[in-house]
Amino acid sequence: FEGRRDNLWKYKEFLPVDADKKVSLDEGGTPFVPCPTLGEELGIDLYVKVEGSNPTGSFKDRGMTLGMTKAMELGVDTVGCASTGNTSASLSAYAARAGKRCIVFLPSGKVALGKLAQAMFHGAEVVSIDGNFDEALKAMTQLAEEKYLYLLNSINPYRLEGQKTIGYEVVDHLGWESPDRIVLPVGNAGNISAIWKGVSEFHEAGFIDDLPMMTGIQAEGACPIVNAFNQHTMKMTPVENPETVATAIRIGAPVSSIKALHAIYDSNGFAQTVSDDEILAAQLELARKEGVGVEPASAASIAGVKRLVNEGEIDKGEKVVCIVTGHLLKDPNTAINACTKPKEVSADLNKIKELLLNK
Ligand code: F0G
Repeated sequence: FEGRRDNLWKYKEFLPVDADKKVSLDEGGTPFVPCPTLGEELGIDLYVKVEGSNPTGSFKDRGMTLGMTKAMELGVDTVGCASTGNTSASLSAYAARAGKRCIVFLPSGKVALGKLAQAMFHGAEVVSIDGNFDEALKAMTQLAEEKYLYLLNSINPYRLEGQKTIGYEVVDHLGWESPDRIVLPVGNAGNISAIWKGVSEFHEAGFIDDLPMMTGIQAEGACPIVNAFNQHTMKMTPVENPETVATAIRIGAPVSSIKALHAIYDSNGFAQTVSDDEILAAQLELARKEGVGVEPASAASIAGVKRLVNEGEIDKGEKVVCIVTGHLLKDPNTAINACTKPKEVSADLNKIKELLLNK
């Protein structure tokens, strides 16, 4: 079927699978939303690409439609991934659609509620690993190497081929122009590599004249890419016990670190950390000043932009696109904890008026 508007299959000539046999839920073609209030405060031209509007609520669906289409082509019967949550939510939906057995490994106790609900509800076999994401991925990769299943983590190149369409869409939205900068959260480091591949392909094809500075943001407690960047090296040293409120990017040994560092260095980009407090403040600000609800990891991009503007790394007037990677409702607990409880009142109009007037 065709989608209600352009989806990522608009670019099928650039995608290395047979689009006529796609396993699709109408992914991509997500909103591109200007942020005039925050932009004005920061003195920049700010936009967000709202990836939470994908079918399962994160950018992972772009990679999964390609990955699952390839899995069908290969005729595998079982697919699997390790995940901080969103990859498992997406894979389980696409596996359901394709009629494949799906096994997901999740770090015990560290997956946001919405993501866990999705993986279980779509019928994946969910295994809670007593360890962090890096350990879960190692075990899952070994299973794949022993041919128990087809691995659909972002080390799978078809995942990145799907996610590169974020880069295509950003320049498409801007009228075939590159923004000055693309800013996004970095966890396992696939997405920044994929988006760089996307914009580079359109640059090589002559569709755009310039390229964006790829700017990766990590949480202070899980920042191996930023550490490597600060040491001007390609060699990433794993962070042993990664920790952050942004559980999506709670990753100490990103598998695509080399590709990500290439994207950052080759684009004259940047890498920076933000604290958990900055992440939560930015999440609330984006929701209240622009009406865009995103999960904590996604808000790291906004927190990063604020920091880089203050540090003078981002120039006034720059055109900056933040990739907000996942929906607010992915992590309802964190959202509720940031708010005060609703006031309670009986359904009596006078009491209600009293309450609203005495605030
Ligand atoms: N933002 C969100 C909401 C994510 O879920 C992830 C990764 C990232 C950013 C980072 O992207 O890994 O390509 O650098 N989530 C993975 C998962 C690890 O398992 O869902 P990356």
